[in-house]
Amino acid sequence: MTASETIRARASVRHFMNTPIPDSIVQAIIDDASWAPSAGNMQPWRVAVLSEKASQQFRDRYEALGWESVLPSLRVALLSHASSHQKTSWEVNQQVMQTYQQQVVVKGTPRVIAIYYDKPTLKEFNQLSLAALSLFWHRMGAVKSPVKKLAAFIQLALRSRRDYRVAQNAVKASLANFTYGLTLAAKQRGVDSCIQFSYNHAFPWLRKDLKLSRKQKLFGVVLIGVSSKPAGLEGVNSRNRRSVAIQWLPTL
Ligand SMILES: Cc1cc2nc3c(=O)[nH]c(=O)nc-3n(C[C@H](O)[C@H](O)[C@H](O)COP(=O)(O)O)c2cc1C
Repeated sequence: MTASETIRARASVRHFMNTPIPDSIVQAIIDDASWAPSAGNMQPWRVAVLSEKASQQFRDRYEALGWESVLPSLRVALLSHASSHQKTSWEVNQQVMQTYQQQVVVKGTPRVIAIYYDKPTLKEFNQLSLAALSLFWHRMGAVKSPVKKLAAFIQLALRSRRDYRVAQNAVKASLANFTYGLTLAAKQRGVDSCIQFSYNHAFPWLRKDLKLSRKQKLFGVVLIGVSSKPAGLEGVNSRNRRSVAIQWLPTL
């Protein structure tokens, strides 16, 4: 498959066969995904791969718990469809539960890959601030006016929190690249997958099972396995895409 074919053929699969995915294939998929770009090439991703048995236990423990918190968003999404307008509240709720049971609840036994990362610490924030301050004094050496120095210092102080937020977002974006990379690498190797963030709602409980320390945070889960549906029909949701609104800017 070409890159374009793989990108377009990947679909979120929630209904899997009980076919095991060997460790060697999981390893190869993770190795491919590790080529994802990351901010400052920090590669912040860490990964826990669950065995077939542990994956089954994970699903049994957390599938319902995770979705409990997502169902309200599903109701809001369904309500935005014109077909829901005629329905009573009871019927809409019924439809939410049906959609969940028929489409989104995970079936079969996919393997669980949990992606986690080290939470940025206050120490790192302080380190960054000190580095910025040191560079500031270095650059201000050439500036004579005390007013200009003060103005630049205020700007630096105002910027530091924003810089930290930008750095945090860069870590999340890097993790997202890796996550998507896993799904593409899986597809390329004939393995189906689905990114699952619903389990994050169960984080306080599953932290212990995943053996994560207090300093580590779950980013998301990718399920991998073999779809129980025929090729091309793996995705349960609509597979169409809106065309991207591009604002072509010839000049600034
Ligand atoms: C960050 C992220 C979180 C997602 N979380 C879930 C989830 O918790 N459960 C689920 O069934 N699908 C989840 N998905 C899959 C999306 O629903 C899916 O990508 C989207 O509907 C488009 O369908 P497609 O992937 O088949 O093209 C998630 C996708 C992303 C990118």
